[in-house]
Amino acid sequence: MVSGSVPSEAGRRLPRATSVRAADLLHRAREHERAGCTVEAQGCYRDAVAEAGRTGEWAIEAEALRRAAVLHHHRSEHQAAQEACDRSYEIAARNGDQVLAAEALNVRAGFATEHGDIEAARATFLRALGMGGASAELRARIEQNLGVLANVQGQLDEALEHYTRSLEAYRGAGNEHGCALAFHNLGMISADRELWEEADGYFDQSRAIAERLGDLHLQGLCLLNHSEVFVARQQFESAKRSAEGALAIFDQLGAQLDKTDAYRVIGVVYRETGRPALAESRLRSSIDLAGANGLVLCEAESSRELALLYQGMGRNQEALSLLNAAHRLFGGLDARADLVDVGRKVAQLEATFLAVVRDWGQSIESSDTYTFGHCERVANYAAAVARDLGLDDPQVTTVRLGAYLHDVGKIRVPHEILNKPGRLTDDEFDIIKMHPIWGLDLLEGVEFPWDIKPIIRWHHEKCDGSGYPDRLRGDEIPLHAMIIGIVDVYDALTTTRSYRPAMTPEVALAEMERCRRWWRADVYEAFGRAIADSGEAAGEAGAKALQPGTALEGQAAA
Ligand SMILES: [Fe+2]
Ligand SMILES: [Fe+2]
Repeated sequence: MVSGSVPSEAGRRLPRATSVRAADLLHRAREHERAGCTVEAQGCYRDAVAEAGRTGEWAIEAEALRRAAVLHHHRSEHQAAQEACDRSYEIAARNGDQVLAAEALNVRAGFATEHGDIEAARATFLRALGMGGASAELRARIEQNLGVLANVQGQLDEALEHYTRSLEAYRGAGNEHGCALAFHNLGMISADRELWEEADGYFDQSRAIAERLGDLHLQGLCLLNHSEVFVARQQFESAKRSAEGALAIFDQLGAQLDKTDAYRVIGVVYRETGRPALAESRLRSSIDLAGANGLVLCEAESSRELALLYQGMGRNQEALSLLNAAHRLFGGLDARADLVDVGRKVAQLEATFLAVVRDWGQSIESSDTYTFGHCERVANYAAAVARDLGLDDPQVTTVRLGAYLHDVGKIRVPHEILNKPGRLTDDEFDIIKMHPIWGLDLLEGVEFPWDIKPIIRWHHEKCDGSGYPDRLRGDEIPLHAMIIGIVDVYDALTTTRSYRPAMTPEVALAEMERCRRWWRADVYEAFGRAIADSGEAAGEAGAKALQPGTALEGQAAA
């Protein structure tokens, strides 16, 4: 064996390859690879290919090429990886070795998976399965890969079938370690499908084998993933024990990626069991460790969990900042179709965003007894108007989030002004008029993936320039802000306020008709259709008229 003291310029430091058999070179390369000496391994593979080519040992040549391809791939030498893999396939196919050719296809499909070309990957795996099915060992690995692919695409039933077939094939091949891997994957998929007891059984079986065979890393993974199953079932004591066992193993192995996951689960357990300080510290450890190691997905997920902790503590701005950071991290993963479930995680993150914002909006309402439910209604009407105007999903989300926070600045308006029975004095109304600006103050330093700040600032502007705080006119008013503005007026009119009873929808719509110069025609019309569709205006014919002209021209829409 070549000693570690040789300079790392591999390939040149070997004794002349001609004196060494190709099989020995291949063996030597494998040893370097296992020891993590990639450069040395690459050199030996190169020599093995050359020597086997010279002596006509095509099977060794094909094998060395395939293994070299994987190494190239790990070093991001994609062109070289592809070429070596293709040569391996050609040599095996030319010599009629179906299994060896299928091995090369399996590797090629693996590359396609990592490049996000899922369809090409699947087709190539299936071809490999057709060619190399005679080898139970290879069949087991290909089925496992097909299971991962199905999992990435959220096809859980299909993934389950592949993992089950993989397990059978590993059993057939007498490969216990393979069985342990298959049990682990079956545990994961069972957990995804919320089949908790099956998951328990699979993780236990996998871990038992891993223990017997001394695979420490797999033991840790079983403990970690099992702990998430315990969390989902709210069995926090078991979850903590399991995650801490995993953390101890990963610590010993120096497995950073897995440690970030373990810290996250432990943090979640502390959060859910009412120990916020410990939860914060573990989740921070997870985020920091993930950040330091470039583990984007882990960092995003742990940020989301910490945001939920802050939300529970009423630290809404911090929660939103973290969620925004997580959203940005996910954004950078767009092209990584090989990552399991990114789509689902982004959706989960956006739902959390909405929940935090909605919660915060509602906590503001609780200081103003007359407007309870205002934000939720404004959000629903505004989303309907936005859709009627043909806005796309992200814009509808923008409008909805803006609706929840449009009045966030009212936190600073004294309670007795917000709830004053009777008309406000001009001075009091001037204070109310500050709420769009105070709203932006409160959100200073909080960035959003959606552009909601214009909504907060300008939802009281009117096309004729009579609004506040900036007296914008016409098209100066952003569309999203105007949508919130119009439904805000409608909701204010149709709910009871401290200074007047609620108007019926008909009366409110009639009032608004008189003031339609306040809004763009298309917005006004879309609003009318959305209200009609909501069914609210129907069947309220006997509306009693209120004193005309009072509500709208004055203060109602604050
Ligand atoms: Fe407002
Ligand atoms: Fe409002």
